[in-house]
Amino acid sequence: MEITPEIHERLEKLNGKYGALGQDLLSYLDGLLYADVTTYWDYIKIDTLLSLQSPKTKFPDEVVFIIYHQITELYFKLCLREFEQLANAEELTKKLFIARVSRINRYFDALIHSFEIMVDGMEKEQFLKFRMSLLPASGFQSAQYREIEIYSTDFINLVAKDKRALYNPSSSIREMFEEIYWKYGATESDTQKKTLTLTQFEERYKESFIVLGESCRGNNLWQVYNRLSDEDKKDPKVIQCLKRNDTNVNVNWPLAHYKSAVQYLSKSSSDIAATGGTNWQKYLPPRFQKRIFYPSLWSEEEVNEWGKGWVETTLNTASE
Ligand code: HEM
Repeated sequence: MEITPEIHERLEKLNGKYGALGQDLLSYLDGLLYADVTTYWDYIKIDTLLSLQSPKTKFPDEVVFIIYHQITELYFKLCLREFEQLANAEELTKKLFIARVSRINRYFDALIHSFEIMVDGMEKEQFLKFRMSLLPASGFQSAQYREIEIYSTDFINLVAKDKRALYNPSSSIREMFEEIYWKYGATESDTQKKTLTLTQFEERYKESFIVLGESCRGNNLWQVYNRLSDEDKKDPKVIQCLKRNDTNVNVNWPLAHYKSAVQYLSKSSSDIAATGGTNWQKYLPPRFQKRIFYPSLWSEEEVNEWGKGWVETTLNTASE
């Protein structure tokens, strides 16, 4: 192949680029000469990816359980990247806001619509056996799930609903963390003591959650929304995508997840204790948790009826 004027021009530009960095272009061209071309398997890290499943038992369905959790964590990672980019956007526009929140909404849509893999996709007999080998691990310990919450809303909305009055706007994240709602999902039903699942989770992540909480004070999604102009804030499309975010994360995903707990842990005689030893029937349903990221976007009636089904129906009708 001949050295065309286009190739010359690119070489000039590369020379300028590396020259400005005080680097010698020739060495970089040598690097190109000897580097292997990229392959799909290296780029996507297929061998590493496929080596990341280490079942604890010989039951084949344990791999379904592991891989679906991993898929979920990858979607959570994609969500977190969007929150970060919005929080750091140099030029925040309505268009960017809608585009990025819609991405998060699509990631959650995908998770909500694939949850059948967990609800119907494993033999219950196998699940009930292999879960005993995983104690006391639980999806409850997903740090990225908690980071999504911290990135979404003012921290006070993550405090257990009957404890919020204890705090005021100058309360520190560390103070509010003491009454974070999820603590109540990991307290032993009989003794009211923290479960091992929670103790371990806090040991590993508490400090990083507090640091993130402090840095999200002025930078969570609700605060980013408040930086839009008054006119943009009222735009129905903006409000609609935030409301979808709230229902996806706080109603639809929890309901899909709850169905899997019912499917695998319910027995006609009595329910099976959760991995973390919690009263999951009282904790998991969104109508009991009533976790709402953007409460002022909802009517009093919608807040009262949170998680009871019609909030979502209303939202769908409104977007048609
Ligand atoms: C058969 C499938 C599943 C069952 C039976 C199940 C069961 C449970 C139960 C009983 C809890 C309450 C805490 C505890 O005592 O452990 C819980 C919490 C949780 N699980 Fe799952 N789970 C399943 C799949 C998943 C998947 C695929 C994820 C994805 C990461 C996940 C993420 C979570 C999260 C984030 C919580 C905490 C929820 C909250 O605090 O509101 N779970 N799960």
